Amino acid sequence: MAPRNIGQQFIELASVDSTNKYAAEQLALRKLRHGAVILAHEQTAGRGQRGRVWRSGGGLDLTASVVLMPQRMRVAGQAVLAKMAALAVHDVVADAFRQAGLDVGPVRIKWPNDVLVDRRKISGILIKNEVVGTLVQSCVVGIGLNVNNTDLEADIQATSLRLETGREHDRRAVLEALCDRLEAWWQRVEAEDPVVGQAYADLLWSRGRFAELLLDGEPFTGRPMDVDEEGRLLVEDGEGRVRAYGTERLRFAPR
Ligand code: BTN
Repeated sequence: MAPRNIGQQFIELASVDSTNKYAAEQLALRKLRHGAVILAHEQTAGRGQRGRVWRSGGGLDLTASVVLMPQRMRVAGQAVLAKMAALAVHDVVADAFRQAGLDVGPVRIKWPNDVLVDRRKISGILIKNEVVGTLVQSCVVGIGLNVNNTDLEADIQATSLRLETGREHDRRAVLEALCDRLEAWWQRVEAEDPVVGQAYADLLWSRGRFAELLLDGEPFTGRPMDVDEEGRLLVEDGEGRVRAYGTERLRFAPR
């Protein structure tokens, strides 16, 4: 078997503002290779999607960034990076569920790349790609996974591995498992294997079921069906018409 590249270069930080910011800075200095992993035990200014803050329990959860350097990925196809990252996190959570004897059915991926257990968010992913011309030069995948946190704000409907499985998890083992799964999905991405898109679609939260959405800020009810190569959600409306929308226009209505 080929050696695992993801995690070969490993940077461990006791505390940092944001592992994504740190990775971008180190990338600009050409200090990171493909597969570099930056793990922080605490983030003081963790970043989330749509400019939000990402909070995590210092020393309890996983906050890490992974650097990927595709060989020949077109910008138009870059959504596959978000898909593979979500699939890798999904697999780690699903494995923890299996080991605890729990049903993995409720572990799903909510577009664009949250991992949920039913309606409870267990992981968020923030991706930043560096583009040169028409190609993706590098990608920073920032992953926040709630591992041992039990002090989550009830109103944001968050959960952790510990809350779900009822036991503490070794964060180092979780990170190892995550690197393994990222490597496995990365090999498929590099091989342009359609299984990445298919597996993602199969795990899509609310797939085929009517969901409350906001389109340009207005309530809209539609059925998420799939996510295209550009990362747009394909939604079927009440009349059976399917349209593709990006995150700049469409989002799930807050619960
Ligand atoms: C989201 O809003 O759901 C995305 C959250 C992403 C959080 C992770 S934690 C590691 C990395 N560093 C950051 O500042 N953000 C990402």
